[in-house]
Order: sequence, then C-alpha cells, then structure tokens
Amino acid sequence: MLDVRPSGRTLGATVTGIDLAQPLDEAHRREILVALGQYGVLCFPKQNPDPAALKAFSERFGTLEVNVAGKYQEPGLPEVMILSNIVENGQPIGLADAGQDWHTDMSYSSTIAFLNVLHAIKVPRRDGRVLGSTHFCNMHAAYEGLPDELKTKLEGRTATHDFNKFWEMMRQRGGNRAPLTPEQRRAKPPVSHPIFLTHPITGTKVLYANPGYAVKIDDMDPAESEQILDFLFRHQTRPEYQYSHEWTEGDVLVWDDIGTIHNAIPDYRPDEPRLIKRCQVAADQIFEEGPALAA
Ligand code: SIN
Repeated sequence: MLDVRPSGRTLGATVTGIDLAQPLDEAHRREILVALGQYGVLCFPKQNPDPAALKAFSERFGTLEVNVAGKYQEPGLPEVMILSNIVENGQPIGLADAGQDWHTDMSYSSTIAFLNVLHAIKVPRRDGRVLGSTHFCNMHAAYEGLPDELKTKLEGRTATHDFNKFWEMMRQRGGNRAPLTPEQRRAKPPVSHPIFLTHPITGTKVLYANPGYAVKIDDMDPAESEQILDFLFRHQTRPEYQYSHEWTEGDVLVWDDIGTIHNAIPDYRPDEPRLIKRCQVAADQIFEEGPALAA
C-alpha cells in the first residue's frame, strides 16, 4: 500500500512507499488514480526517474502528448519536454516560460489532458527561500461555488479553446517564442469542450473554463460571452480554491488537469536555474476506466 498524506488544504497529498524509477504495478497505479480523484495534486518526494522511466510511468495513465511546438524535447524521447531557464553555449536548453499564468493543459486538443507529470531536477532558491512554485486551483470546489443561476445558464454549453491564445500571451510578455507557423496552427485548430465536465474519477462536476486557452462561449452573443468568461476566470482563481506546491529537487508532481488549473510562478532570475522534465498524459484512457474506480 502507498502512504498517502493529505495536505489538509483544498488540494494536495504527499505519496511515499514507491520508487517511480521502477515499473509501476497495477495495484499502485489504481491507488494513484483514486488519490488523484481525492486530492488532485500528488507529490512523490525523493524520486530519481531518468527520462525513459518518467515516460514509462506517465504512459501507464494514457497516451502521451508530443508538444506541437516540437522543441525542447529529451533526445530520442519527444514525449519528455524540458522546462528550464538554463542557457548553455548561448542556447536555451528548455522552454523558459512554460505555464506562467493560470491555465490547464491541452484543453486546445480534441482529447484533453488528464495528467501532468513533472520531475524537478533544479529548483531556484534565494536567501533560503524556494522560488518557482506552482500554484493550483480546485475546479470541483469552483463548480460548487458558482451561483445557481450561472450553473443553470451554462449547463450543456461549450466553449472554444485555442492553443494560440496562451502562446501569443507569452510572446507579448517578451518570451523567446516565435509565432506559431501556419503548419503548427493547422496541427492544433481551435476545439470546443463543455464548460462543465463530469470528472471521470469522482463522477461529480468540475468547472472546465480555462483562462489560458478558452476564447469564447459557443453560440452566445460575443459581449455576453466575454463578460461571463471574465467572471469565470476570476471566480475559479479565488483564494479559497488555491493551493501552492513549493518544489524540492527530486519531487515528482502528478496533477489532474481536469479537476485543477495551475500557474507556474516566475519569481526567479535567469541566473537562478530551474530545470524540470515533463510528460503530459491525454484523457483517452481515464474516461473509460475512471467510473469503475469509484465503485
Ligand atoms: C506546466 O504548466 O506544466 C509547467 C508548470 C511548472 O513549470 O511549474
């Protein structure tokens, strides 16, 4: 059995009793899924999976995404992306500004994300203080906290999500991203998803509005759509839904992208190195197997 210690806050638990460098057995995989439904964000401390092991662990939960940007991938393992501000020989070794605002991953894909799996290798610190934390919000709680009339109004409605929204936002902030090419845009055309999803593990509703990628509520007057999205983006990041993870080298952090949104805090300088390796898991498998986990 895994040892799962809840944070006692709206999200988060620490999981020990497993070595993620070793193949994952089925009993542990199911325990992890159940804990993800309960706590949303799981930290496995003191882990040392190499990139192949990180990929092998992640792909037990669903198909892995290869990022459309096609850069900063682990050599020979395009499913493992390098997130880093480190520059070597004048070249960035990773994507420096990944996830630096509220969003959840892959809502811009027809098959949305289920999990992010991140392994921290270098964590910036200043004067003993950890920098580069990742913040989360609980989308089960955000749905519950919506006014009843908005729940009724938005039930059954969909929103359009566009990969280019977050990409352009980061470019305008001065990051090192080139504009997406027409080919990259064609590879990720905007897609629609329900604004309320039934979570595949908990069986209850979550708010699936995404400040990073949602651009409009479908079939709604544009001004009203903008006003409601603006309300949802502010509502879903209210302080009572928030949880923060302060990284330590060796943490593997696994989080549920359906029941949470996240924000990587860029409070460190270029000379304060941060290095993280990441896999993104699609929600192809979980919508089939999730409901049985609750039984
Ligand atoms: C991400 O959005 O996956 C990046 C999160 C982080 O680097 O903390």
